[in-house]
Amino acid sequence: MDMELKKVGDLEFPPRKVWMKTYGCQMNYHDSERILSHLSNLNFTATAEQSEADLVIFNTCAVRDLANQKFYSHLGETKKLKTHPDINPETGMKKDVIVAAGGCIAQTEGKDLITKYKQLDFAFGTDVIDNIGEMVYRAYAGEKKFSVTSWDRSENYSIETKITQGSPQAYVNIIKGCDKFCSYCIVPFTRGREKSRRLTEIVTDVKRLVEYSGVQEIMLLGQNVNSFGKDNNESLAQLILELDQINGLERLRYTTSHPYDVTDELIAAHAQAKKLVNHLHLPVQSGSNTVLQRMLREYTVEHYLTLLEKMRKANPEMIITTDIIAGFPNETEEEHLETMKLLDLAQYDFIYGYTFSQRKGTKAARMSDVLTDDIRLRRLREIQDKQLFIQGKIRQEMIGKNYRILVEDKGINKGITKWTGRTSCNRIVHFEPLTLEQDYKWHWVDVEITSATALSTQGRFVRDHGKRPL
Ligand code: SAM
Ligand code: SF4
Ligand code: F3S
Repeated sequence: MDMELKKVGDLEFPPRKVWMKTYGCQMNYHDSERILSHLSNLNFTATAEQSEADLVIFNTCAVRDLANQKFYSHLGETKKLKTHPDINPETGMKKDVIVAAGGCIAQTEGKDLITKYKQLDFAFGTDVIDNIGEMVYRAYAGEKKFSVTSWDRSENYSIETKITQGSPQAYVNIIKGCDKFCSYCIVPFTRGREKSRRLTEIVTDVKRLVEYSGVQEIMLLGQNVNSFGKDNNESLAQLILELDQINGLERLRYTTSHPYDVTDELIAAHAQAKKLVNHLHLPVQSGSNTVLQRMLREYTVEHYLTLLEKMRKANPEMIITTDIIAGFPNETEEEHLETMKLLDLAQYDFIYGYTFSQRKGTKAARMSDVLTDDIRLRRLREIQDKQLFIQGKIRQEMIGKNYRILVEDKGINKGITKWTGRTSCNRIVHFEPLTLEQDYKWHWVDVEITSATALSTQGRFVRDHGKRPL
């Protein structure tokens, strides 16, 4: 059998397949891409079929109970991979499937996981992603049942962005960790302390992505992205203005912001930077000052609304989205109604709503709580119903206007083929192609909006600019 071996250290690596499942936020997806990129150096290629895999990796999320449960159930299913080893058709060898868990659950529970789950060979945390090659090497050298969850203690945070997808969109991590310790949130425990990359390193990194990898749209990432640079006397606004100068870069996004760290300088950047999109995701969590205090969010509803006003003044096209938690411990009906009122005042384009989920180790988990799951769910439904009404009305205003979208994919619904892309303000638009043969993937296309509801926006094809906008 024709098989190209790759010698790494004392071991030979035949071509192998890795199957990876990612849960959670963009940061985890960014990490997964790094993992795949490192594994390609050990002769791995990705597969979408778990049954074909030699290496199975879960990149886990701990933010809410649901994400945890999904992972545990998927991990349970991997037992059968271990008990029925197959023959690898490419190597002709018996497959020794290695199963690993990384990410946020593994960071805090790595040791327990490998003890409890027999099929799990190793666990690794969020700050050792770049050592994945070494860990896989150890596993293939015969070492099993280890957990690596150490924190990187070096003073500087320095990386080069890795991409594997060949798409014009890329995540660029600019700050890791979170120092905010909101009382409900597990992230500061799973991602450690804040550490920023240096501004010049990021600019060089983005220039390289644009020049050599055809990247046109960048999402700057951080758990608290607008804390960027505090440790180095630099700022997100400065970074945005520098990146705005890069020829060939078309769109710049950033997520996720904390209202406490939105400065006037950042608001001004939204007026100045031409490539910065007309969208800001600014999680509010609650419309009640007393709940915000118990959440340790460090701002008031009034301050938050002033920020929205300033943003919309700096850029009248600005679209705002948010996150809301329904049923924080002991939230009263009045406090819940204050959140409902905020929806009217803020006029969000979209919200991510969650019921409060108790996370072990957080301050909120130690609060006594009178609310039931039913109350939380009912409040979340009320929030979502009201928001759908508001956003339906906002979206109606798009009808008749032209938008430029970056086309991502196509789908067939009830026999009709439609392509889908995103506007600068991050709204998804579907449109029918002129001919079925036309391939619009990663094209910049102008569309005129023909209909819009709270959940779906349809457009009419106007003009195709190809893979580079005119
Ligand atoms: N750093 C961002 C911020 O400050 O908004 C996002 C952090 S978290 C990954 C994304 C969202 O999950 C949060 O904005 C919050 O709404 C939600 N979340 C976090 N912890 C939660 C919990 N214990 N229960 C319910 N929702 C939670
Ligand atoms: Fe969690 Fe708060 Fe940090 Fe966001 S800012 S990651 S909600 S602790
Ligand atoms: Fe989840 Fe970790 Fe992200 S807890 S939301 S994967 S930072």
